[in-house]
Amino acid sequence: MYDFDRIIDRSETNTYKFDLRKSYFGEEDVIPLWVADMDFAAAPEIHAEIQKRAAHEIFGYTIRKDDFNEAIKDWCEYKHAWKIQTDCIEYSPGVVPALAFSILGLTEPGDGVIINTPVYPPFHSVVTSNGRELIKNSLIQENGKYVFDFDSFEQEAAKPSTKLFILCNPHNPVGRAWTKEELLKIHEICIKHNVVVLADEIHSDLVWWGKQHNAFALLNDEAAANSLTFMAPSKTFNIAGFNTSYVISSNPKLLAAYRNTQNRLQVHLGHVFSSLALTSAYNLGRPWLKELTTYIEDNIQFVDSFLKSNLPEIQMQIPDATYLLWLNFAEWNMSQKELKDHLVKKAKVGLNDGMTFGAEGKGYMRLNVASPRSILHEALERIVATKPV
Ligand SMILES: Cc1ncc(COP(=O)(O)O)c(C=O)c1O
Repeated sequence: MYDFDRIIDRSETNTYKFDLRKSYFGEEDVIPLWVADMDFAAAPEIHAEIQKRAAHEIFGYTIRKDDFNEAIKDWCEYKHAWKIQTDCIEYSPGVVPALAFSILGLTEPGDGVIINTPVYPPFHSVVTSNGRELIKNSLIQENGKYVFDFDSFEQEAAKPSTKLFILCNPHNPVGRAWTKEELLKIHEICIKHNVVVLADEIHSDLVWWGKQHNAFALLNDEAAANSLTFMAPSKTFNIAGFNTSYVISSNPKLLAAYRNTQNRLQVHLGHVFSSLALTSAYNLGRPWLKELTTYIEDNIQFVDSFLKSNLPEIQMQIPDATYLLWLNFAEWNMSQKELKDHLVKKAKVGLNDGMTFGAEGKGYMRLNVASPRSILHEALERIVATKPV
């Protein structure tokens, strides 16, 4: 019913992914498969609601009514079997801003914040740009699968200055949807050492082949009370430009620390489309998301089999979640600069540089598969055609 094969011209829309090609890659004519949004039309049901509101001629200050929290409550129950009280929810103008407010509200300058590298680059900068100490705890690979290094994680958590851990669940870029057992171990270490968990679960609706997202706060009451969870309809429904997300916590003190910082910075109001974007996505977007899920699963399989047949030296792990593939080009034996230059200048394909996620990303590139299959095919063909001998 929904057409994910349709190629939509995104030029002239001030699009990060397309319009920043020149400044990020140095070339205008790469196929952009980097920034984590999708090249698909948002659900027509959302579009219709936004159009209806846009037809009104006044765009004044806009409030959120009860339907905002109600839609979140219904969504969490529908999608994650997570029953939350509406007073445990607070609006946020984006997940990364919400992480920044939490860091400011819950720590002092110089306090330590742990992240699991390789990880989404703003996890690094949101800590350092706010004057906190960034503690990088590397994920490790076991039998071709990324896992936590619990021993070194505990060593970092045990330092008295360590106050927070930013969990990426599911993890961007390695695609793991963490298991309950893994999360429980992390929880036990954090509770033992008084480390509060900021659980970024923005990718939690994009979990493939019937695998399960395990919400950190659903582990048990203690984990719920020791965490703030960050979610949004932005990745799920390709509506990131509305900058609308939310924070959940059953711990009133943590939620108050978050809310106070957001209010102090005067960014609690939101904009004219915030509430409508979220409520229409969560209330009307379910059929679209079902079809999107199948399309992305097929795209992931398409890339996997294309690589196996044509570029077997490029390794990829099938992700549990996210439309982001973490490709290992180590067998090309190039420096990171040579690899980037090769893909941009010769293949004319724009991927994220693996090293922006941490030093562990050397030899890796991140490919966004949320594009029509014909575009992915063209990008992969370009890589084959220019493959170093
Ligand atoms: C793990 C993670 N958190 C947050 C974001 C961005 O969230 P927002 O646009 O709401 O700040 C992304 C986007 O790629 C992400 O991958």
